[in-house]
Amino acid sequence: MKKLIGIAAAGAMLLALSGCAGADGGSAAEGGPKPLDELVVGFAQVGAESGWRTANTKDIQAAFEEAGIELKFSDAQQKQENQIKAIRSYIQQQVDVIAFSPVVETGWDAVLNEAKAAGIPVVLTDRAVDSKDESLYVSFLGSDFVLEGEKAGQWVLDEYADTTEPVEIIQLEGTTGAAPAIDRAEGFAEVIAENPNLEVVASQTGDFTRAGGKQVTEALLKSNPGVDLIYAHNDDMGLGAIEAIEAAGLVPGEDIKIVTVDAVKDGMQALADGKINFIVECSPLLGAQLIEIITQVNDGETPEKRIVTEETTFTQEQAIEALPDRQY
Ligand code: AHR
Repeated sequence: MKKLIGIAAAGAMLLALSGCAGADGGSAAEGGPKPLDELVVGFAQVGAESGWRTANTKDIQAAFEEAGIELKFSDAQQKQENQIKAIRSYIQQQVDVIAFSPVVETGWDAVLNEAKAAGIPVVLTDRAVDSKDESLYVSFLGSDFVLEGEKAGQWVLDEYADTTEPVEIIQLEGTTGAAPAIDRAEGFAEVIAENPNLEVVASQTGDFTRAGGKQVTEALLKSNPGVDLIYAHNDDMGLGAIEAIEAAGLVPGEDIKIVTVDAVKDGMQALADGKINFIVECSPLLGAQLIEIITQVNDGETPEKRIVTEETTFTQEQAIEALPDRQY
């Protein structure tokens, strides 16, 4: 019995001395919560590929500033190896929490295990990782991308409900391997499958950028002159598609309908102008909720494992109404 008590006491002492929590929860310092102005968080951002991303970065930086928490920020320029480097450097610097938005879904287990071994909790924002081990992160805050794809698909399904002719669709995919590209394609495909007239005749990545959307549309318009609709996985690629359609002497929104995801100001303006026909919202305003999660971790509480962002959709009339108050 004595021996058992001795082992328990030694274990408790070890825990107290280690001063850090497991990656799947617990306070940043087991000695109790740190004052917020002593917390240090490392954030590894995807890049600056879109209006959405710029709004997301600004919102996160503003939320940290307001909370008085130190933020170490890095921009991976859409490259997984840069994000992995940034995360390793945050581990080396022994930050209290690491947050990141994974550029692609797979390939994170090794670095996340390193964070876990160092006792640094990880929060996923915006995009998911594809890992069997859910203990590698404390919480995942972001949109339901499959649902976004379904909403886009539903609009298309309704729009062409009475059509008896084939409807040719071009899909502009996001970054290959990224959760929003995979899930938005999946949700959309599932819904439009209800009407066999709706056919995706071409699908290519535009890497979530305006230039990518323009370039891919230019090429695909040549090989698919009968296209009826473009489904772009984000506004920026849709805006690039508008440029390509106009350059081809066609009228975006009329000759070729456009459906996008995000609802950033530029996209909403194009919707209000009738150049885009429908937008599914994806909110980049994750800063306040991220601070809440970090505060919970610091307090030794267990945050919800999955927090889904609330989002809506916009028609032209709704965009005209929403634009004056749109923050981003
Ligand atoms: O992960 C969110 C997506 O990434 C946004 O829809 C897109 O604009 C961004 O680049």
